[in-house]
Amino acid sequence: MASTMHSIKIPFFILLLLYERSLSVRFKVSSTPSVSAALGSDVLLPCTLTPEMNAEMMEIRWFNYRFQIYVHRYHNKKDDYTAQMPQFANRTELLKENITRGIFPLKIHKVTAQDSGEYHCFVESSEHHGKAIVQLLVIAVGSLPNISSVYSENNHTVYCESCDWHPKPYLLWTDNEGNKIIPLMEHTFRDENNLYHIISAVNQPTTSYITCTVSSSLNHSKQNSRRLIDEGQRNTATHCILTCPSVAVSLICLCCIYLPAMNLGVGITKQHCNS
Ligand SMILES: *[C@@H]1O[C@H](CO)[C@@H](O)[C@H](O)[C@H]1NC(C)=O
Ligand SMILES: *[C@@H]1O[C@H](CO)[C@@H](O)[C@H](O)[C@H]1NC(C)=O
Ligand SMILES: *[C@@H]1O[C@H](CO)[C@@H](O)[C@H](O)[C@H]1NC(C)=O
Ligand SMILES: *[C@@H]1O[C@H](CO)[C@@H](O)[C@H](O)[C@H]1NC(C)=O
Ligand SMILES: *[C@@H]1O[C@H](CO)[C@@H](O)[C@H](O)[C@H]1NC(C)=O
Repeated sequence: MASTMHSIKIPFFILLLLYERSLSVRFKVSSTPSVSAALGSDVLLPCTLTPEMNAEMMEIRWFNYRFQIYVHRYHNKKDDYTAQMPQFANRTELLKENITRGIFPLKIHKVTAQDSGEYHCFVESSEHHGKAIVQLLVIAVGSLPNISSVYSENNHTVYCESCDWHPKPYLLWTDNEGNKIIPLMEHTFRDENNLYHIISAVNQPTTSYITCTVSSSLNHSKQNSRRLIDEGQRNTATHCILTCPSVAVSLICLCCIYLPAMNLGVGITKQHCNS
């Protein structure tokens, strides 16, 4: 009896030792849920080990879509750029100042809209491995909306256009009283830099003053307004020019005052949308 008890005790003791040892080398990898950064700025993506542990001898791999082609890799106490995504060439830096305490954030220089997305921090020691995920959101506040009017026949269309947004913006038309105007069309597309360009049109507006507001999902917005020539006035004006020359003369004078002011309004909104 006593000898069987003894033979059971030894393996159990060894197992307990092994278990305790495995606990001592286990770690949890953590980051923050999300980080946002202005387009073109430098960003820090946190990555830490708990409990506090020296990660100098571990492999640290930051990747987004594919494990093999990484954003940054640290291995054998060195940074390894051999299979780095070309998108991140010369733009990543693993901060190792506190690596012995299990703190090693990744710095990405000059973020682009394309850098937005999910990042995985994968850490592996000889005994254990773990992973944390952080969402990077790159924010670009776009250009002042450009409002333009197009008349053809009796058809009046007002366009509003704004570029260089990230994330995807939405557009809102409002009248004198701030009531929403339903647009005829709206179109959003991404340019070569992955930034959003939005264009919308209102047909036959019945308001004399129109406002176009473009906002991104993150509470950043740009707004522009424009006074419109009233449709009724236009029709009377066209009629008068044809029928009564004296009225026409005064109207031309009015236009001389009115039009430059309107052109100025458009001039202020001139942006650098390339498309
Ligand atoms: C990265 O830096 C190296 C050396 O300064 C340079 O030769 C290379 O063109 C750079 N690559 C990019 C994508 O900027
Ligand atoms: C390292 O830790 C110290 C003390 O907490 C802190 O002041 C410093 O900014 C850290 N360095 C990096 C690169 O995170
Ligand atoms: C007015 O112009 C808009 C934009 O070009 C067009 O979509 C619409 O069909 C036109 N409406 C009429 C009544 O011609
Ligand atoms: C956006 O701004 C408005 C007014 O400034 C505020 O009430 C709202 O809470 C903000 N929303 C977010 C998501 O920050
Ligand atoms: C603004 O709209 C006017 C009229 O369509 C156009 O001539 C001008 O080029 C636009 N500016 C930009 C920056 O899109």
